[in-house]
Amino acid sequence: MTHASKAENRPDSSPANPKALYGGTSSRRVTVRDIAAAKVRGEKWPMLTAYDAMTASVFDESGIPVLLVGDSMGNCHLGYDSTVPVTMDEIALLSAAVVRGTKRALIVGDLPFGSYQEGSVQALRNATRLVKEAGVGAVKLEGGERSADQIDLLVRSGIPVMAHIGLTPQSVNAYGGYPVQGRGEEAAQQLLRDAKAVQDAGAFAVVLELVPAELAAEVTRTLHIPTVGIGAGQECDAQVLVWTDMAGMTAGRVPRFVKQYANLREVLGGAAKSFAADVVGGLYPAEEHAFH
Ligand code: KIV
Repeated sequence: MTHASKAENRPDSSPANPKALYGGTSSRRVTVRDIAAAKVRGEKWPMLTAYDAMTASVFDESGIPVLLVGDSMGNCHLGYDSTVPVTMDEIALLSAAVVRGTKRALIVGDLPFGSYQEGSVQALRNATRLVKEAGVGAVKLEGGERSADQIDLLVRSGIPVMAHIGLTPQSVNAYGGYPVQGRGEEAAQQLLRDAKAVQDAGAFAVVLELVPAELAAEVTRTLHIPTVGIGAGQECDAQVLVWTDMAGMTAGRVPRFVKQYANLREVLGGAAKSFAADVVGGLYPAEEHAFH
């Protein structure tokens, strides 16, 4: 049965599962135990990035159960041309804002490039900072087998970890771009080893970025932790998009795997132009906006 036909077959009137990550009735913060339970139920769930309190509050009120304060903030929020320059200070500041703006979503803070590659102790120091200073409920870091030691120490220290394998954007300089990963037998076997390594190290979920759909489906069937796909086909347990791509805020081309659900760039630009025209034409402020 395809993804589309599964959705079509779901009766609209069926009562929502009160425990569902999306559409459930619980208003307390989502935890990693809720995420694990969703995999057991076979429930799919959405995740978005967020970089500020106000946008995060919109997604939280919309029921998105997991928000990632991704280092994609480099490209989408801070004006860098990749995620590489993003610092711990920037992630900590924006993670704290997203936590303050939300009540229910599990907030995952991304560990930026250079904040965990030295080893487990460095990873623990920086992850602890995100948990204590920003109040995140979990952290994310890139790498499979190569990051297993870091994941292991963080998890043993009480910090839930979301892993990230396949295309790991912090390695853009090594890749020379953003190529699809896991193509060919050897690369596919490495991806499977990476997936098992992060699960064995204790990760509660794993992002699969830009990998062939068939391989992502195999990883999803093999693991008992949920897979979160981005450019990884239909079979992952969850799907994540960068919010500015999803809502049509990003300028220029977006990756082929992105579906744009709005054209916020046009809406916001239109609002700015209307405001400007009113100011120039003397229509704003009007009498009702004035104090006497
Ligand atoms: O930083 C980010 O937004 C991410 C997602 C694309 C998974 O890592």
